[in-house]
Order: sequence, then C-alpha cells, then structure tokens
Amino acid sequence: MAIDQMSDLDDLSRLFEAELARAQNRRDLEGLRVRFLGKKGLLTAKFKDLGLLPLPDRPARGAELNLLKNRIQDEIARRQANLEAAKLTAPTLDLTLPGRRPVIGRRHPLAQVEARVKSIFRSMGFVVETGPEIETTYYNFTALNTPEWHPARDEADTFYLDSDHLLRTETSPVQIRVLQRGKLPVRMIAPGRVYRKDKPDPTHFPVFHQVEGLYVDHGVTFADLKGTLLAFYRSLFGEDTQIRFRPHYFPFTEPSAEVDVTCFLCHGQGCRVCKEKGWLEMGGSGMVDPNVLEGLGINSEEWTGFAFGLGIERIAMLWYGVDDIRLFYENDLRFLQQF
Ligand code: DAH
Repeated sequence: MAIDQMSDLDDLSRLFEAELARAQNRRDLEGLRVRFLGKKGLLTAKFKDLGLLPLPDRPARGAELNLLKNRIQDEIARRQANLEAAKLTAPTLDLTLPGRRPVIGRRHPLAQVEARVKSIFRSMGFVVETGPEIETTYYNFTALNTPEWHPARDEADTFYLDSDHLLRTETSPVQIRVLQRGKLPVRMIAPGRVYRKDKPDPTHFPVFHQVEGLYVDHGVTFADLKGTLLAFYRSLFGEDTQIRFRPHYFPFTEPSAEVDVTCFLCHGQGCRVCKEKGWLEMGGSGMVDPNVLEGLGINSEEWTGFAFGLGIERIAMLWYGVDDIRLFYENDLRFLQQF
C-alpha cells in the first residue's frame, strides 16, 4: 500500500514536469496551477483522500504531499519569473533593426555667416555691440546726419511705430549709442536685424541683417579703412581677394565709398556669380562725418574714425549660391539642411 501510494505521486510529479515544459506563457502556467493545486486539482484530490488512510499512515503521506505541493508552487513561480525577465528583453529590443538616427539640427546659414564675420573682426580687436531694433528717429536718422529730405526717412520706406519710433532701417544707430557712452577709442562691430518696407522678391525682403563697423581713435585715416576691409575680405573669401572703393554718398560718412571685392569664384575673370563683372558689390563705408562726432560732443579735430556696413544675406547668397533671399526666411528643412 505504501509503495503504491509513493508511485502515484511519482506519476503525478512526472506529469507536472512534462506539462510545465510545454507551458509558454502566464496563461499556461495559471492553467497548470489550477490543474494540480486548484479546488478540483489532481494533487488537491490526493489531500482529500488523506482522511481515508489509517491514522498511523497519515503523517508520512501528508509530508510527501506537502513536499510535492511546495515543489509545484516553486517551479511555477520560477517559470513565471523567467517569463517576466524574457519579456523585458526579447520583444522590446530587436538587435537586427537599424538604429534610429536623431535628426541633428544645425545653425541657420545666416547665423553661420554672422558667426564667421564676428570671429574675423574679433581677431582684429573689434568688440561686438548690439542695439535695439525699435529705434527713435534721433538715433536712426538725426544723429547720423541724415537730412530731413532723405528718402530713407519716408514713410513709404520705413516702418514707423509712431511719429518718433521706428524699426531701425540700418545698424548704424548702434554707432551713436556706443559713442554716446563717451569712452574713446572705440573699435566695434554691431550685427543685427534691420527693417525696410521692401516688397519681397528674389533680392529684397522686409527684414534682413547687417553688420555695422566703427573705429574711432586719434589719427584714424582712410588707409586704415582700406587695410581693415582688405584683411577682412581676404580672410572671408581667400587671400588673393582684391578690393576697390567707388565714391558714394552716405549722410554719416565723408568721404563715403562703396566697396567691391574681386569675385571669389572666378577671381575677377567674370562668371555667373559676379554676372561677368569680375567684381562683387559688398557694402558702404567712409570716414565718420565730423558732424556726427561733434553732434555727440566729440572733438573732430582730435578724433577721427571710419565706419562701414555690410549685408549678411548678400554674403550668404554669393557664398552659398542662393538665388532667392526669401529662402532664408521660409524655414524649409530641405533648404536649411544643405548648410
Ligand atoms: N547704413 C548703410 C545702409 O544701410 C550702410 C553703411 C554705409 C554703413 C556706410 C556705414 C557706412 O557705417 O559708413 O545702407
């Protein structure tokens, strides 16, 4: 009798092992638990039969049953833990999938050009200054010696906020704000946005960027202006670059000149970039008009200076071969990702 009883538990144990080996998931394991340990479970039935045994046989049989019951519970629990662990790694991490590449941002082409311009002028001892984009007519025009009749003052060309405030039409007013501090000498550039009432077309946009330059010291001459801009444009476009000055008019400089540089693509031979001229127009410049200095209480016999202005979009369009200024303001990733 005792032997029989032992072997029936061995059978049950083997049955359990076989079914456990086939269990694939939580549901299978739960089914297994119910099948053996549930109310009508195979092992539970054996416990119920315990009462049928003669009293002296019960403790030994009970101990065997408990042993098997504990083993079944332990093995189900262990399998369950293994399944959980496998779930954490297997379905979420497929090592054969290609990696996800994060989209890398980059600096806007105008920001790249501005950074380059700043770095060149910094290396020549210029400090970077900024000024407000909303200016008064005094800083934007009057202090810059701009006559009342000048077309730039016209409402058709300038965004006025009221009779005395406007969106600055140039970065030149920063010159005035810096000189007003009364600390000379001054050697500065001022990059920033400017605004004009221009209808958008391939070469015009109502907002664009300039860099203003100003150097005021004892004995600054036009030769300093030429040397500084030559060094700048050689650093920007290449060491074989030449520059030339064409007489021009600006209210705040006297004499004034427009600056051309030899085309960086054809080196002066003529090509599509320079429209066969060999030269590229880059911006304005001149010696600071004594009227501007005196208007700020600076003795123009003692101090002289040069100033210049250049356009960031102009440089970027030439350098990158962009033929429509509006592209810089549309934020189309297909465009921006090229720089
Ligand atoms: N402010 C001028 C413009 O917007 C550019 C310029 C010309 C700036 C000559 C200067 C300069 O400082 O000397 O067209």
